[in-house]
Amino acid sequence: MKLARRIESLPPYLFAEIEKKISAKKAAGVDVISLGIGDPVEPTPANIIECLKREAADPANHRYPSFAGMPAFRQAISAWYEKRFGLSFDAAKEVLPLIGSKEGIAHIQVALVDPGDVVLVPDPGYPVYKAGALLAGGTPYFMPLLPENNYVPKLSDIPSDVARAAKLMFLNYPNNPTSAVVAEGFFEEVVAFAKEYDIVVAHDFPYSEIVFEGYEAPSFLATPGARDVGVEFHSLSKTYNMTGWRIGWVLGNHEVIEALGRVKTNIDSGIFNAIQKAGIEALTGPQDVIADMCAIYKRRRDLVVSTLRDIGIDIQAPKATIYVWAKVPEGHTSESFVTLVLEKAGVVVPPGSAYGPSGEGYIRISLTTKDDLLAEALERIQQAL
Ligand SMILES: Cc1ncc(COP(=O)(O)O)c(C=O)c1O
Repeated sequence: MKLARRIESLPPYLFAEIEKKISAKKAAGVDVISLGIGDPVEPTPANIIECLKREAADPANHRYPSFAGMPAFRQAISAWYEKRFGLSFDAAKEVLPLIGSKEGIAHIQVALVDPGDVVLVPDPGYPVYKAGALLAGGTPYFMPLLPENNYVPKLSDIPSDVARAAKLMFLNYPNNPTSAVVAEGFFEEVVAFAKEYDIVVAHDFPYSEIVFEGYEAPSFLATPGARDVGVEFHSLSKTYNMTGWRIGWVLGNHEVIEALGRVKTNIDSGIFNAIQKAGIEALTGPQDVIADMCAIYKRRRDLVVSTLRDIGIDIQAPKATIYVWAKVPEGHTSESFVTLVLEKAGVVVPPGSAYGPSGEGYIRISLTTKDDLLAEALERIQQAL
């Protein structure tokens, strides 16, 4: 059998590989605790589940959904943005529901990237930015996120021939995996850069609501000029504990939204209407889950940070996200530390290097494990060291 050339350049998905490792360890009788994937263990709020039950029983929802998404869901998204960020969007032209933001992040590249085009990708970064570029035949170019630059890319380091060849830039603040928040003035710099080189900016914003101690995460689209060059991806996954429901959206520049919509109408047939109605319930119903989850994540964050400090790792408590990004102890690489922790403690943590070369020397700890298991995993790590 001859596979397509594009598959050869495509690495296996990080968490699919980690899932295999966990299964192998479990089969060997090891009681594995995973601090790997960012997948909330707490349930979806009851009002959202009740809404799905009701709507799933209605035969009107059993037929193909509209390609463009239900108008009422688009309007709920637009109203939510207005309420959250004071930004208004035309629900018919500037908002597009997605089957989880992951698919949109991959498919936007089919809409914008031709073979040979460059896609500017944060390093370390969510792996789908690079994978989507490769699938579209594009060339990913890594923009290092370094602590000395507050984890934002140094745009002046991007060679001008690379910038000229670039069609698309991905950004993501609050950031996965580094948990960094955006530095002041950076989005303004990005808009100027994108206009100079005619680059579309895709800001990935799934952690906007998971913030601590009063921090407020800004929308990229609030930056003057951003709507001329950009779109913002959002997701119900982390905000409402809905990772399994597969629902998100992209909004912003009409031309980009229209192009992505054209790709999607040819590939998928939208989101089950009952799930879109549950999405409306999520966005318009009680919002207590957000503060509750932030309190849970903050408690877990504090436990992780204090344990790491006890181990001798110098670390700042992150202001946002469900992750802690930490340096590995002296003398270790990402891979050697992750292997030690798996073999000696039965704990799975992803190596920072899996998110890009600049992630070498780090690990990412997810805060989506129950408190008691997280505490046990940290204790086991401490003992293993
Ligand atoms: C930065 C980032 N973008 C996008 C996603 C995908 O989210 P969704 O569940 O909406 O596909 C994730 C999921 O972990 C993420 O961390």
